[in-house]
Amino acid sequence: MKLNGKVTDALNFFQGNEPHALTREYGSPLYVYNERIFRKSCRDIKGMCEYPKFFVNYSVKANSNLTLLKIAREEGLRADATSQGEAVAILAAGYQPEEIFYVVNNVSAAELNFAVEKNITVSVDSLSQLETFGQLNPGKRVSVRLNPGIGAGHHEKVVTGGDRTKFGVNEAYIPDIKRILEKYDLKLAGINQHIGSLIMDGSLFLAGVQNLLKIARQFDDLDFIDLGGGFGVPYQKQEGEEPLDIESLGKLLSKFMHEFSESYGKELRFMVEPGRYIPAESGVLLGTVHAIKNNGFVKYAGTDLGFSVFARPMLYDAHHDIEVYRDSDEIMEHPIKMINIVGNMCESGDYIARERYLPALRVGDVLGVLDAGAYGYAMSSQYNYRARPAEVLICEDGTRKLIRRRDTYEDMLANMIF
Ligand code: LLP
Repeated sequence: MKLNGKVTDALNFFQGNEPHALTREYGSPLYVYNERIFRKSCRDIKGMCEYPKFFVNYSVKANSNLTLLKIAREEGLRADATSQGEAVAILAAGYQPEEIFYVVNNVSAAELNFAVEKNITVSVDSLSQLETFGQLNPGKRVSVRLNPGIGAGHHEKVVTGGDRTKFGVNEAYIPDIKRILEKYDLKLAGINQHIGSLIMDGSLFLAGVQNLLKIARQFDDLDFIDLGGGFGVPYQKQEGEEPLDIESLGKLLSKFMHEFSESYGKELRFMVEPGRYIPAESGVLLGTVHAIKNNGFVKYAGTDLGFSVFARPMLYDAHHDIEVYRDSDEIMEHPIKMINIVGNMCESGDYIARERYLPALRVGDVLGVLDAGAYGYAMSSQYNYRARPAEVLICEDGTRKLIRRRDTYEDMLANMIF
C-alpha cells in the first residue's frame, strides 16, 4: 500500500510491481528503473531541435548501466565519456567509436592514446593537454573545451564555467590554442563547453550558448560545436515544481543553430551532452526502515539508505522527494509527522532527508527515493564495506528484469592480495 504515492502513481512508475515484492525478491536497498520513462526522456531531448545535424551525446557519468546505455543507443543517442573506463563501458554496450565523444580533464598520455587508437574524438581542456595530445598524435583531429565565461548549477560543486572553475580554456588563450594546433599540424574538429549541472532556467543555458557561438567565429572550418549538458529535472514534484521547458528551449536553440550555420557558411553538426535529464526520473531507489527513535526532540527513521548507496543529499544537500510504502492493507489514519531520514553509515552527515513531513513511519516500511536514476548508483561506493545494491528494470510491458546484481562479499574481497 502506498501512503503517499502520488508522484509514482501519476507516472504509473511501478506498472503493477509492488515495492515490497521488489525488495523481497532483489534485496534492499534496490535501484528500480522504468524503461518507458527512460525512453521518453531520450526522445524528449532527441526531438528538442529540428536542426538537421543535431545530435545528443548521453553523458554516461549519470548512469552507465549497460542495459540503459543500449536502450539509449536504440533511441538514437550517442555518448559522452569522461574516462577511459566509461569509454570501455560504452563500447561494451555496442556503440561505435565514432558515436563517442571523450571529454577529458587532466588525463594521462596513455588515456589520450587509448582514444586515438580507438578512433574516438577527444576534447582537451587545457593548453597543457593540447600540447601533450599534439606531441603524441601530430596531424590528428581534436576538440578544445572552452570556458564561455558563464557558469550555472544547483551547487557550487557542480558549476563548471565562469571565473572559478578548473574546466575549459578561457577565450583569452585562443591565440595559444592556434599556435599549438599549428605546431603539431592538428585539425580543430570542434569546440565544446559545459557550464554546469541542473539548470532549470533555460535562459542561462542560452546565454552560455551565445557566448560560445561568438567565440566559435574565431575558428575556421569547424565540423562541430558541442553545447554541453546540464538540463535539469524537477526534484520537488510533491510540491508541484514545474519541469524545464525543453520544447521552448529547443526552438530557440534550433534558431541559433540555423543562424550560425548560415553566417558561418557551413551546416556544421551541433551536439548537446545531457547526463541527468536522461535517467534521473526513470529511477526510484527503494530502501527499508529498520529503526525509529527519538534523540531528544528530534525524531529519526534509520534506514539502509546510507550515503554509500546514495550520496547526493550528503554531498550537495540535495532534495529528493520520498514516498512511503507499507506492506499491509489495513485502513487507518496516517498522521503526518516531521522526521529525519538517515542511513546506516558511521558518519553523522549520513542523511537522506532532513525535517521531512511524512506519514508516521514504522519499522518495515519501504521508502522510495524519487528521481534517483542519475548520479545515484553511479556515485555509490563500498564504504563501510557495504555491498552496492542491485539494479532492476521495469520493462515496457511491466515485467521486471535484473540488470545488475548486488555486489557479493566474494566480489568485494576479490582484489585483495594477502
Ligand atoms: N558534459 C560534461 C563535460 C560534464 O562534466 C557533465 C557533468 C555533463 C556533460 C552532464 O551534466 P548533466 O546534464 O548531468 O548536468 N554529481 C552531480 C552532477 C555532476 C555533473 C558533472 N558533470 C549531481 O549529482 O548533481
